[in-house]
Amino acid sequence: MAPAAEEEKSIQEVLSLPILLADRVIKSAHEAESFKPENSDLARQVTHLSQLLRSAARLTTASTAVYDRPIRRLSVDLTKTLDRALNLARKCRHKKTHVLHHVLSITTSADFKKVSTLIDSSLADIKWVLSILSPDSENATINLSLPPFATTDPILAWVWPYIAAVHMGRAEAAHELAILARDNDRNKKIIVEENGVPPLLKLLKESSNLDAQKAAAAALYNLADDPCRVRVIAKALGVQIIAKALSEAPMKVQVNLVDLISRMSEMDAGLREEFGRENVTRPLVSILGMDVDLEEFKETNARKSVNSLDSLVQINNELTKKGVRRFGSGVSSRKEKEREAESPGVKLRLKISCAMALWKLARGSLSNSRKITETKALLVLAKIIEKERGELQISSLMVVMELAEVAESNADYKRACFKPHSPAAKAVLDQLLRVINEETDAPLVIPAIKAIGCLATMFPAKEKRIVERLVAQLGNTNRDVASESAKALGKFVCKENYNRVEHSKAIVEYNGVAKLMNLIKRDNRGESRLDEVVLLCNLAVNVGNSKELEEGRALSVVEGAARNAVAQNPDLREVFAKAIHKLTIYQAGGNNHGHV
Ligand SMILES: *[C@@H]1O[C@H](CO)[C@@H](O)[C@H](O)[C@H]1NC(C)=O
Ligand SMILES: *[C@@H]1O[C@H](CO)[C@@H](O)[C@H](O)[C@H]1NC(C)=O
Ligand SMILES: *[C@@H]1O[C@H](CO)[C@@H](O)[C@H](O)[C@H]1NC(C)=O
Repeated sequence: MAPAAEEEKSIQEVLSLPILLADRVIKSAHEAESFKPENSDLARQVTHLSQLLRSAARLTTASTAVYDRPIRRLSVDLTKTLDRALNLARKCRHKKTHVLHHVLSITTSADFKKVSTLIDSSLADIKWVLSILSPDSENATINLSLPPFATTDPILAWVWPYIAAVHMGRAEAAHELAILARDNDRNKKIIVEENGVPPLLKLLKESSNLDAQKAAAAALYNLADDPCRVRVIAKALGVQIIAKALSEAPMKVQVNLVDLISRMSEMDAGLREEFGRENVTRPLVSILGMDVDLEEFKETNARKSVNSLDSLVQINNELTKKGVRRFGSGVSSRKEKEREAESPGVKLRLKISCAMALWKLARGSLSNSRKITETKALLVLAKIIEKERGELQISSLMVVMELAEVAESNADYKRACFKPHSPAAKAVLDQLLRVINEETDAPLVIPAIKAIGCLATMFPAKEKRIVERLVAQLGNTNRDVASESAKALGKFVCKENYNRVEHSKAIVEYNGVAKLMNLIKRDNRGESRLDEVVLLCNLAVNVGNSKELEEGRALSVVEGAARNAVAQNPDLREVFAKAIHKLTIYQAGGNNHGHV
């Protein structure tokens, strides 16, 4: 593929070399003293070629938007052919003499034939390229006849006409590229190498044709399954263009754009931040909440939190100004009418995509999580978790889980966003607990349990219903749910948790020890039990004198697991040592062979 330096040359510079060479060939051929008929044919052919090259130069000067990749590419071979032609013509400067003996004469003659064939191919190639680049072809069928170079580069002969047509804003060409890009990795690679990305973005940005935008977004989505290609899209200002298109496009296009944002964010953590800086979180939350009635919250929470609802209204107003529908109230606009008219299937699909995108954007990103919760997404998410089912409900839980994970590693954010008395946080917590209590599907229950675990330090000592529900899940027949509960409970009783002793007492009170011992004994999957044994250790450290621990033979379990656990994770040495110490003190009959 062309090196970067070549790309930097303007297309006029690229064309000037073969044009210059062609003029020299013509001059030398006219001046030839031997092989005159051959030279005269050569001059004629090259004159034709030179005219086509000048047409190409005019075409590319007329508009900077012309797709010049094919010309750049073909001019490489063309220059070689013209060099060869020039050498040949120059060899004929002198009259045939005895010096130029028979054998040489035969090879020269063969050379003329060869060069003539090469130039014929170049002529056909260039004619073909001009036909795909010409503005006259704007409304014509895309030229799928095969030029000579297609025998060596068949894919290029497929891809170039489509990219050229995308340059001209043609929807069906973007659609074809989307199909090519879906097929296989080689096609994707070539589309990107042949500069297919910028015109697709341009289509997204400038076209008023809905099908064209949709096809462009779909093509970009198909290309965006590889980190390098995703960076190519970003380098061509993709993030900014996609973000802008998102807040302006109709729903049918938004679905594709949102999926594209998800995919790009998943591929590259840097782009996740870049999308955040473009504030894509706002339209995403706004779309997600388009059918959520926040008035309900307003009534229930009117007294408690005038401020946060004020800011919600403010954000809604801002979004409306930008042409994005605000959620909750009944402002009428063109966009809103269009949305109302959209089928429930399209709306649901779009909301699911938005939840997924928010989930990807929140992952591990403090600034994106902040932006998401600033828009009062928590209220929207709580409502959806309450009212919806299926993918939308699960994806919304995943968003909450990611936000909670970010909160776990940032105390400021955790306090700001999940303080238990804010209506938004309260609504979400209520839903998390409801899911843990009422739902049975592991894909729903697990993210809820994880989220609660991440927020463990937020809960006051007297808040026992959370521990109660987690303890109940220790006995869940689904092993993954039970393990996740043990892991979450571990965060309530670890030494970083100020209320660890109260929480530990609550766990004992709700019969957590027996459930935990059953769970640990249930199977022997080794490492997966670590969270469970560590939970047991912490209970021993915090409430070592409880008779439940003695009855459950906690000491022998802790001793049995200590060696392996500490070998795997030396940080655990202290908690195991303390647990064994406590249990040995309080429990008669403990063995002494398990020192750490
Ligand atoms: C396609 O390109 C060929 C040259 O290779 C040209 O002869 C033909 O007229 C073109 N067709 C269209 C529809 O432009
Ligand atoms: C292509 O069609 C559009 C609308 O049908 C027209 O405005 C435009 O002039 C046409 N272009 C050419 C080159 O014929
Ligand atoms: C994103 O929103 C922030 C805060 O409202 C604003 O300062 C910033 O300019 C916005 N960024 C873009 C790219 O619009």
